[in-house]
Amino acid sequence: MNLKQQAAARTLDYVRSGMTLGLGTGSTTAHLVDMLGERLHTGELQDIRAVPTSERTAAQARTLSIPLTTLAELGRHRGAALLDLAVDGADRVDPDLNLIKGLGRALLREKIVAVHADRFLIIVDESKMTPRLGDNCPVPVEIVPFEAEAHVRWLGTLGCHAELWLEKDNSPVVTDDENYLARCWFPDGIADPVALARTLAGRPGIVEHGLFLGMADAVIVAGSEGIRILQASEAGR
Ligand code: A5P
Repeated sequence: MNLKQQAAARTLDYVRSGMTLGLGTGSTTAHLVDMLGERLHTGELQDIRAVPTSERTAAQARTLSIPLTTLAELGRHRGAALLDLAVDGADRVDPDLNLIKGLGRALLREKIVAVHADRFLIIVDESKMTPRLGDNCPVPVEIVPFEAEAHVRWLGTLGCHAELWLEKDNSPVVTDDENYLARCWFPDGIADPVALARTLAGRPGIVEHGLFLGMADAVIVAGSEGIRILQASEAGR
């Protein structure tokens, strides 16, 4: 197993029959979805219902006959936390378990699903660990297509180089919710992620951003020396 597969496999320790799950997006989570499908197929797990965070994950889950549902449907039958557990990958993880996510283009649905989960678990290989968010990794920001260039120009006033994320044919990347994405490159990393997140959240035209701050309950890190499980309760926040 490669490192991403090892992180995904460890996640199965947290999954029990009868759970409602949020399924993230990306290559690490795709391994988990495969493993989940296999356990449902063999009967080791039963009665799982899952909310996918992208059309890509939904398509994979359907192929594996993983029962899918929606937050709305779960809301008709459950109390406050609609999902027992949401699992997702990340693009970067800092020592406080703050994250950059969304370079798999699914940050909006990922964040919506994560906030409805009782527990949010991140699975990564060790290459994703960083002392400071923004070091050599852009922050993706989902923006409305209307006047997209103006949103990108404003993002560029926040101490970063901002660009509209383009496909190879130069057309804008379009998300599952038909928005565009910008990528913000901070030359020296992000000095104050909380302040940046607050600024982004208050701006018309910005739909959501890839800073997931104070959201992860635990991070499973697969590395050359084995698996480490980092708990938010021990991460100094
Ligand atoms: C999806 O939009 C992202 O947030 C992914 O979770 C992130 O890009 C991790 O992807 P990999 O698991 O492919 O590294």
